[in-house]
Amino acid sequence: MVTYDRVLREGDIAQFDCGALVNGLVNAAWSRGLGCVVNSQGIMHSPVVREHAGIPEDQVIMICVAIGYPDEEFPANAVVSKRRSVSEVATFVGFDETVS
Ligand SMILES: Cc1cc2nc3c(=O)[nH]c(=O)nc-3n(C[C@H](O)[C@H](O)[C@H](O)COP(=O)(O)O)c2cc1C
Repeated sequence: MVTYDRVLREGDIAQFDCGALVNGLVNAAWSRGLGCVVNSQGIMHSPVVREHAGIPEDQVIMICVAIGYPDEEFPANAVVSKRRSVSEVATFVGFDETVS
């Protein structure tokens, strides 16, 4: 569970920081052979999560990251997401090389 201090709630940077943290967490886990699924489903019943994970009320629950060793035999894990290329979704200004 990724949380942030409730005093930061009125600002707009804590959520960004949580996203950056999750990116690092997922990459670190992956580099050690662990799979991750960032998911909102895990916090849908946040009072239950709060109680069982012992998360105090002064923390805002941001997101859940399921981490574990991937089961390569599980059929759903054969699904490969389609993604648009970097050049379709990002514009790089001031670089000579074309990024694709
Ligand atoms: C903020 C956020 C919330 C997500 N919530 C869910 C979720 O509740 N359930 C789910 O199946 N996938 C959720 N996903 C998507 C999964 O993390 C993951 O991207 C998806 O399973 C596809 O993975 P892949 O594109 O790397 O194959 C969420 C992703 C993000 C970034």
